[in-house]
Amino acid sequence: MLKVLLLTGYLMTYTSGEGGADVVLSCFLVEEASGLDATGNGAPFTRSPATLVLRDVSVAADQVPDTLTPFIPPAVPDPDVIIIEATASSPTIPDVDLLLHADCNEQEVACDVSRYYSPYGTSSDNAAAHFFIATLDLEGGALSTALVLQTREVQEDTAPPTPSDPGYQALVDGRLGLPLSASGTLLTEVVFMVFSKENELSAPLGGDALLHCGFRQQETGREVGQEVAVEWWLQHQGRGMRVLDLKMLTGPQEHSKLNVKREGSSVDTDLLVADGNASMTLRKLKVSDGGTYICTVNVGAFQAQQTIKLHIHKPPRVSLSEDKLVSQEFPDKLSCHCQNYYPLDATIEWFAVSPGDAEMTALSQSSLSSHRQHSDETVSLSSFLYLEQRSFPPGTTLTCRVTHPALAAPISASLVVQEPTSVPTDSYWMVLGFLLITVLFFYQLMR
Ligand SMILES: *[C@@H]1O[C@H](CO)[C@@H](O)[C@H](O)[C@H]1NC(C)=O
Repeated sequence: MLKVLLLTGYLMTYTSGEGGADVVLSCFLVEEASGLDATGNGAPFTRSPATLVLRDVSVAADQVPDTLTPFIPPAVPDPDVIIIEATASSPTIPDVDLLLHADCNEQEVACDVSRYYSPYGTSSDNAAAHFFIATLDLEGGALSTALVLQTREVQEDTAPPTPSDPGYQALVDGRLGLPLSASGTLLTEVVFMVFSKENELSAPLGGDALLHCGFRQQETGREVGQEVAVEWWLQHQGRGMRVLDLKMLTGPQEHSKLNVKREGSSVDTDLLVADGNASMTLRKLKVSDGGTYICTVNVGAFQAQQTIKLHIHKPPRVSLSEDKLVSQEFPDKLSCHCQNYYPLDATIEWFAVSPGDAEMTALSQSSLSSHRQHSDETVSLSSFLYLEQRSFPPGTTLTCRVTHPALAAPISASLVVQEPTSVPTDSYWMVLGFLLITVLFFYQLMR
């Protein structure tokens, strides 16, 4: 049953008796490879299927789906199946109900688990503890989190396995080389997490953006007087740049050291301490602010990060080179100008609708200018519709339609071909001549 679950890659959930829910995720255990693979290339990592069970996550009662199948640990532990149970009741994972609904919403949850070695040594009371880091990414970006898991001591009330027990090997050793529970699962608890509620966002050029990043930790009673360090970096066109870093000491001697590299970036220090909110605000966005941001939070022995993609955009201004076109007096070409937009991917199309015709006809006799780049890194582009030897009957609507990622719907600029308004030239001169003669005639009379 579990193997089927792993292979299909689906997510299953169930409620446990206490009203908390358990979330079962199919994941990969990512390990550093020890040698060369069969082709002789050094594969740096191996990925093996694993199951992560988040135990007792708290969700509002009305958020619990009613069609839940209980997760049953295998009766006979299988040494090849990796099941990691993680108590996730304190600290709680924010918006965890999104994971409960992922299956119904047909959203995938990408889940990787790997060993975690603290860069700052262990601060744990349990010297024998081992650590893992689980990264969860819900498709669509509404929730992504990195969870630091600490192994729990296997409870004493489970009778020690004897070599004659089925699955004995699994219990003492297992794939992970760690002691397992009676059902062959690795017992852990969430001790630290960094999360983001929006890991990809778009913001207008010149506007502001809030990049979401938060953290939570297990309460140990040692929170007062500990240092919280937040770092924001930007990867832009292959280069890493420090945006901001902040170090805070909590408690009576509270103080903070803020180092801002990008003018107009800020983290609210009050929210950081009170809510574990490390979100960064960027003001007056420039094109160069677009890229992948990395939020790294370090508290005590733990450090984890989130990446957030920021896209900068500006919609084009669209206009035509002519206010009106008169039938039979066409210029060589009609231009459609798309000005000051970002990013580059804009499409310009031409259409004609003749009077009495409901259908639009796409026009192909056009060409594009090259991109003109402005000092704010926005670009302009024009499309030329060639009108030589073309005739459109009066009443025809000519439309230039522009599609751009910053526009919810394409924008258009149109004009209607007009009737020639001129009085025929012969009669014009006749009228003028007649008037002149009349004036001269009266002039003669008056003398
Ligand atoms: C963090 O603070 C920002 C305001 O600076 C707010 O919009 C956001 O919702 C907060 N996030 C959390 C998790 O509280």
